[in-house]
Amino acid sequence: MRGTLPAHRGCATEWPASDDVYHARVRRTLAILNQKGGVGKTTVTLGLASAAAAAGRRTLVVDLDPQGSSTWVLGVDAQTLDATVADVLHTKASAREAIRPSTWCDAIDVLPSGSDLQEHEDGKSKRLRKAIATVERDYEAVLIDCPPSLGNLTRSALTAARHSLIVVEPSALGLRGIGGVADLLDDVWGTSNPQLELAGVVLNRVPAVSSESDRRTAELARIVGHEAIWSPAVPQRVIFNQAVGGRRPIHSYAARAAEPIAVFDALWRRVRFLTGPRSER
Ligand SMILES: Nc1ncnc2c1ncn2[C@@H]1O[C@H](COP(=O)(O)OP(=O)(O)OP(=O)(O)O)[C@@H](O)[C@H]1O
Ligand SMILES: [Mg+2]
Repeated sequence: MRGTLPAHRGCATEWPASDDVYHARVRRTLAILNQKGGVGKTTVTLGLASAAAAAGRRTLVVDLDPQGSSTWVLGVDAQTLDATVADVLHTKASAREAIRPSTWCDAIDVLPSGSDLQEHEDGKSKRLRKAIATVERDYEAVLIDCPPSLGNLTRSALTAARHSLIVVEPSALGLRGIGGVADLLDDVWGTSNPQLELAGVVLNRVPAVSSESDRRTAELARIVGHEAIWSPAVPQRVIFNQAVGGRRPIHSYAARAAEPIAVFDALWRRVRFLTGPRSER
């Protein structure tokens, strides 16, 4: 049904044809999205990358947002780059040529955004998928940080991904627009990526006590189903802003960020359950 979010999207039963075969065998790419701005897509992407780094798991962050926030926080300055994800989308560079090491640690690489990404919003949606397929096996997870829109960049991310994770703030405005996300997931599933699965919904910026937040969380559960909402939720904490300003992983704050670290370690385990080899499940 249009505008509603299925609690679980099953895998396609038919074996896909041609270049889709490679993709169907690999399950490591997760798109983190919501059309609403500022809900925490980048915070969740980087929190997961921080947990991956702490666990020593090689992870690629694909920054598909022209704002380039995750590129910057991962220590890469877009002005100094020969190639960005925009060049990859325009087939002017390969993914391997554009990928840069982060300054966080050896385990984390970034496929950086550039300010020229916006003008490529109408790029072909399968180009990113093909580019990621050439490097996906080098990593234990590929996390795509989507822009705050449901345009062609987010469509490209969903076409490249095996799993999608929606970030939602439990507020009245935070829940608005989730129907549009559901419509895009439906559309991509039905057209460019029948293997796409809805991994779930992460609640971000949840206050310690708030009846409004509880009410909105219950409302969200009615829309997506209780089991689609990942636990634990990400609490509202100033340390997230500090980590961005310091261009540091949340795990580097140790005791000062004990709760956020525990939350992202738990969320990362869930991502690993999705992206890891069956033997590790
Ligand atoms: N759980 C949280 N607690 C406190 N601050 C948070 C939390 N999550 C995000 N923020 C802050 O909110 C702001 C927006 O977060 P973020 O950049 O992750 O959102 P976004 O969805 O990626 O935004 P955009 O749509 O612009 O890409 C940032 O300053 C971030 O530090
Ligand atoms: Mg962002």
